[in-house]
Amino acid sequence: MLCQCPKLTPLQSRLLASVSALALLALIYWSLSNPHFAYAAELAHDGTGQLRRGEDHNWHRIEEDDEVVKLSKRETKNTQFQGNNIGTLFDISTGDLDIWEYPNRFLVEDPVGKGDGFPSELEGKRVDTFRHPELRKRDLEERQTGTTIYISANTCRQPLWVGSETQDVAPPQLTLYVSNSAGNKDLGPDGNNQQVYPFDGGFVNASVPNASGTWHVAVSAPDLSSNFSGFWNYEMAVSIDDYFHEAEVDDPFLYLVDTDYNSALFVTDNLTEANASTEVYQKWLNLSAPFVMFAVNQNLTGTMGLENSFCGLETFVKNNSQIQASQADLQGNSSHVQMGMITRGLGQKPKEQFYVTGLNDSSQYTAYLAMDGNSTASGNGVVGGGGKVWGAGVNFTTKRDGNCQLLFNLTFCEEVAYAVPANPQNSALSTFADLQNFYENYTTTWYAPFNYTLAQVPCNTTSDAQYSLAKNCTHCAAAYKEWLCAVSIPRCEDFSNNAGYLQPRNVGQQFYNNGSMLDDVFLNSQYIPMPGAPTLDGSIAFQQTYISSFATNQSRNAEIDATIKPGPYKEVLPCEDLCYSLMQSCPASMQFACPYPGRGLEASYGQRSESGQVTCSYLGAYYYQNDAARVGGVVMKAVVSAVVVMMLV
Ligand SMILES: *[C@@H]1O[C@H](CO)[C@@H](O)[C@H](O)[C@H]1NC(C)=O
Ligand SMILES: *[C@@H]1O[C@H](CO)[C@@H](O)[C@H](O)[C@H]1NC(C)=O
Ligand SMILES: *[C@@H]1O[C@H](CO)[C@@H](O)[C@H](O)[C@H]1NC(C)=O
Ligand SMILES: *[C@@H]1O[C@H](CO)[C@@H](O)[C@H](O)[C@H]1NC(C)=O
Ligand SMILES: *[C@@H]1O[C@H](CO)[C@@H](O)[C@H](O)[C@H]1NC(C)=O
Ligand SMILES: *[C@@H]1O[C@H](CO)[C@@H](O)[C@H](O)[C@H]1NC(C)=O
Ligand SMILES: *[C@@H]1O[C@H](CO)[C@@H](O)[C@H](O)[C@H]1NC(C)=O
Ligand SMILES: *[C@@H]1O[C@H](CO)[C@@H](O)[C@H](O)[C@H]1NC(C)=O
Ligand SMILES: *[C@@H]1O[C@H](CO)[C@@H](O)[C@H](O)[C@H]1NC(C)=O
Ligand SMILES: *[C@@H]1O[C@H](CO)[C@@H](O)[C@H](O)[C@H]1NC(C)=O
Ligand SMILES: *[C@@H]1O[C@H](CO)[C@@H](O)[C@H](O)[C@H]1NC(C)=O
Ligand SMILES: *[C@@H]1O[C@H](CO)[C@@H](O)[C@H](O)[C@H]1NC(C)=O
Repeated sequence: MLCQCPKLTPLQSRLLASVSALALLALIYWSLSNPHFAYAAELAHDGTGQLRRGEDHNWHRIEEDDEVVKLSKRETKNTQFQGNNIGTLFDISTGDLDIWEYPNRFLVEDPVGKGDGFPSELEGKRVDTFRHPELRKRDLEERQTGTTIYISANTCRQPLWVGSETQDVAPPQLTLYVSNSAGNKDLGPDGNNQQVYPFDGGFVNASVPNASGTWHVAVSAPDLSSNFSGFWNYEMAVSIDDYFHEAEVDDPFLYLVDTDYNSALFVTDNLTEANASTEVYQKWLNLSAPFVMFAVNQNLTGTMGLENSFCGLETFVKNNSQIQASQADLQGNSSHVQMGMITRGLGQKPKEQFYVTGLNDSSQYTAYLAMDGNSTASGNGVVGGGGKVWGAGVNFTTKRDGNCQLLFNLTFCEEVAYAVPANPQNSALSTFADLQNFYENYTTTWYAPFNYTLAQVPCNTTSDAQYSLAKNCTHCAAAYKEWLCAVSIPRCEDFSNNAGYLQPRNVGQQFYNNGSMLDDVFLNSQYIPMPGAPTLDGSIAFQQTYISSFATNQSRNAEIDATIKPGPYKEVLPCEDLCYSLMQSCPASMQFACPYPGRGLEASYGQRSESGQVTCSYLGAYYYQNDAARVGGVVMKAVVSAVVVMMLV
């Protein structure tokens, strides 16, 4: 093998020597100051507890003008796989090459089988094999034509950033080489007759269809710039059943519902599109928590380059006290993540929910959905035992102030799941349950008179005698309930959030935490609630200030100001289509009407956006929901009505 090392000038080589010495010093210093250093060395064991170390130590010469300037130690280690479905941990240093041998006796073993799997294939952005069973069948047939070797690896640890600036790039990735034919072990950067697979975010997979004989694969570690120091530790596995490690690199499969100052709520994508009456649907709901998740503060840059690696994220999160939801949380061993299956949200499909607490305020995090092993078992001997991550991740920011708190699990407004106005210093309403009770009572109290009125409407007649051909009392009750929940439980944002779609509230109140007030200049500055208001003589629409305007100096719901006293906050206004839907769905005799543009609409209702932001509040909303379908399809604009109506402001 020829070393294709760059030719160095004498000056460069002296520089290289001193840089290497410095790097070594840094490494020694780091290992003394970092107790986790020992961890990687401990990991260099396989499942049998033996330390796997290589045999061939090749010394490569770096030459300059025929003058030997330096001997650089480049190692090639030969290793044998210990069996199918066994993850072997291995350290590798820059420039080194590990050659792995997969003997034929493992290839001819009986497959252990994959277990039952999930009630249905996950759909996400991928081809829907659940609704297209023929695809699944073809997949199985293809696999039956010969034995396939499934090769996969996860980077568990990687060199650390030692640069002086903030880390802006990931360390370089390892590379996997897979021989094209049995018996060939001439693999690596200078190898032949091989396929090359660079790791991506600490993950790699490859397969050899229809294999026979003894097969070899190799992993090489790249050169490192002086901004990084250390080595890699990776977990390697082969299987004749399926990949031991998996990653879904494009689809986060996870949605942010909302955050508050120390917690965040997530849901997975729909786990099935099947109807509630089907067995598949019920089976999904009966699972306890098939997925787990990780959440890492973005100021910890060490996850760069490990996004697609279950082992990498798990190791990082453990060593840096970040958030991991694990099966242990189900046994109540950790209070950080509460997991469970829910059906809340559009379509009422099964999903897993994660309620993550113990976060820092005003901080940016990335959350990754993951699966520990095959979700019910993990580790050696399990097909897929190395786990799976959805590496695209979801970025989120916690709120700054404590007066917006996440609320969900309500009984009446069961679709509510977002931050609501709160006051952690109000002793009567400081717990989750107190806040639940407050909003629960408020909404049910207001629903009662509507329910009574609805009972007077002739709903239960033949369809020609109904008030509308398209709508009946079921629609009216549902539209009223959704509207009532959205308007009486405001969706709350930090007052400091300057997004244009937010409505300031309670500007004249004291901040809940320190009793301070907003400054007078701001309070007395002009506030134009409705730029589209008619400019008639004497109109007060353009003469308002923040402190004088109805819209900015109180909550939508007076009970909130009287009981909770949240202080200044901003509201994500309910979506205007909720109001139109209510008008359309209920009998005209109920006299519901929505405000007109320029006459209250803008200050009371918001509009949906295509951007993925939740720019108005509707039940079951979450961020970056692809097809944020509008309620009721086409949005109907308010119609002129001569009667005195009950304005839904
Ligand atoms: C996970 O693996 C175990 C052991 O192989 C198996 O019994 C179980 O059914 C598998 N779980 C799933 C969800 O496939
Ligand atoms: C890695 O695994 C995925 C999912 O099973 C598969 O679609 C992809 O083709 C695999 N990549 C390689 C190089 O085999
Ligand atoms: C698998 O290999 C056998 C013999 O090695 C060969 O006869 C067969 O055609 C191969 N099948 C495929 C699908 O490549
Ligand atoms: C190290 O990182 C800094 C800051 O990101 C960058 O400007 C510099 O070029 C890097 N040095 C090397 C050798 O890559
Ligand atoms: C879940 O399914 C419902 C109904 O089929 C759909 O409206 C909704 O958009 C889906 N959710 C996601 C995240 O795609
Ligand atoms: C990261 O941010 C948190 C607050 O979000 C802070 O407590 C911590 O000190 C920061 N860590 C670093 C390394 O900057
Ligand atoms: C999440 O944040 C990271 C770091 O700021 C960024 O590189 C990445 O593109 C973001 N992802 C998305 C989906 O916005
Ligand atoms: C929400 O309801 C579920 C199911 O009843 C329960 O397990 C969970 O503890 C509740 N969470 C909160 C925060 O109340
Ligand atoms: C329930 O709400 C009503 C109306 O908002 C209020 O008068 C009553 O005091 C509340 N009851 C409790 C127990 O909070
Ligand atoms: C509405 O009234 C009906 C009787 O007309 C009753 O069965 C139902 O429980 C009431 N709903 C609520 C939420 O109070
Ligand atoms: C509608 O009529 C059916 C039978 O005619 C009755 O069982 C049902 O309770 C009625 N529903 C309402 C809401 O009045
Ligand atoms: C109203 O119509 C829907 C179908 O659009 C139907 O499922 C529901 O039972 C009807 N409700 C009543 C009270 O007739």
